[in-house]
Amino acid sequence: MATRQHRLRSKLAQHQQKIHPFVVEASGQLVRVVGLTLEATGCRAAVGSLCAIETMSGNLVAEVIGFDDQLLYLMPIEELRGVLPGAKVTPLGQQSGLSVGLSLLGRVLDGSGQPIDGLGNLKTDQKASSHVAAINPLARRAISEPLDVGVRAINAMLTVGKGQRMGLFAGSGVGKSVLLGMMTRGTNADIIVVGLVGERGREVKEFIEEILGAEGRARSVVVAAPADTSPLMRLRACETSTRIAEYFRDLGYNVLLLMDSLTRYAQAQREIALAVGEPPATKGYPPSVFAKLPKLVERAGNGGGKQGSITAFYTVLTEGDDLQDPIADASRAILDGHIVLSRSLADSGHYPAIDIEASISRVAPMVITPDHLEAMRKVKQVYSLYQQNKDLISIGAYSQGSDPRIDNAIRLQPAMNAFLRQMMKDSVTFESSTLMLGQMGAQCQV
Ligand SMILES: Nc1ncnc2c1ncn2[C@@H]1O[C@H](COP(=O)(O)OP(=O)(O)OP(=O)(O)O)[C@@H](O)[C@H]1O
Ligand SMILES: [Mg+2]
Repeated sequence: MATRQHRLRSKLAQHQQKIHPFVVEASGQLVRVVGLTLEATGCRAAVGSLCAIETMSGNLVAEVIGFDDQLLYLMPIEELRGVLPGAKVTPLGQQSGLSVGLSLLGRVLDGSGQPIDGLGNLKTDQKASSHVAAINPLARRAISEPLDVGVRAINAMLTVGKGQRMGLFAGSGVGKSVLLGMMTRGTNADIIVVGLVGERGREVKEFIEEILGAEGRARSVVVAAPADTSPLMRLRACETSTRIAEYFRDLGYNVLLLMDSLTRYAQAQREIALAVGEPPATKGYPPSVFAKLPKLVERAGNGGGKQGSITAFYTVLTEGDDLQDPIADASRAILDGHIVLSRSLADSGHYPAIDIEASISRVAPMVITPDHLEAMRKVKQVYSLYQQNKDLISIGAYSQGSDPRIDNAIRLQPAMNAFLRQMMKDSVTFESSTLMLGQMGAQCQV
């Protein structure tokens, strides 16, 4: 008798363990809708979990973004349409993992990792959990090798290391997307993950078909959440692309992660945070935005042991070319360098419009040879000297022969501009970039 009771008790305990505390909950109902925020009562669900909401045309999936006493705040993942007062809200539990695998290459996914390219289902059974533990900073390999990005001005003057996180700061229309596209074609990274977040829908297609091209696409995974998708989808797109990059990094690949743009990620988080009543702080951005940015960026970088690396480029929009925007400021502090694209260079037809003087790669000295560093320093000095005296020179106030260094800078100017420019379809290897930089440096008098 006693053994039977014991058996029954242990069986009950086993079953109790299987019941997820947050999954099995009664349905609730919708009591209020304001903008994109839905308020429900009568059910319990964890923040970050999903709920199905009954609408006129089937169910709508929404994510729990916060709560207040008995009230749950939800935000739809898809378009909000046809919800009625008192609609049934059923908790669905936590989000399922992300499909991953080498078959992701060449595919275009939405923010939740579902294919949107019309090429059928993803041919993989592997799932990656959406939450990963952060890598211990001491277990990460140091950045020690350069990554070829196929762009001469960057390879030579702003060398990027494998595992580095760079910002690409620019206003609208100065060539960010084209520059990212050039990198996808020219880089020697094994795999490229592109996150297109908050762009116009037309641009996504343009980027994939024209800028990325068949060659770039074959070794890329694109995650796209255009501007008309919900803020949750845009936020997720950044997280999904980072998660995919992490998956490939953990397999030992050197991954190049291109995120266009980090500003749109911050804006999506601003929309969500303001909707649940978080107070705005700097320029309408609530504090959670500044907490989320480093969390996302810190996930890129080198792995430890046999893991590969994630070298990341995050574009940062500088409104009205204002470099003091709070997101630009916060990003500059958490990234390992920044490339500034200048509107005046773009206007004069100088592409890529990289402002060499305003840009910096903080890890460059750690990944290049002393000769490379020396040539880089010389070229930068001569380039700056010309820029400082440019106005005098252009109005004819400088008379030749007054300063041999300025004479040298004027003489080298056309060659320097040709060195820094690059046609959209061309790619230049790291070796030939450094070779040309060496020749340039040899002619510089400093
Ligand atoms: N390397 C280049 N060579 C020639 N033209 C270029 C180059 N890079 C950019 N351009 C020109 O600049 C235009 C704008 O570039 P792009 O779309 O990359 O800008 P963007 O900064 O991504 O703009 P947005 O802010 O609208 O996303 C391109 O259509 C192209 O005409
Ligand atoms: Mg663009």
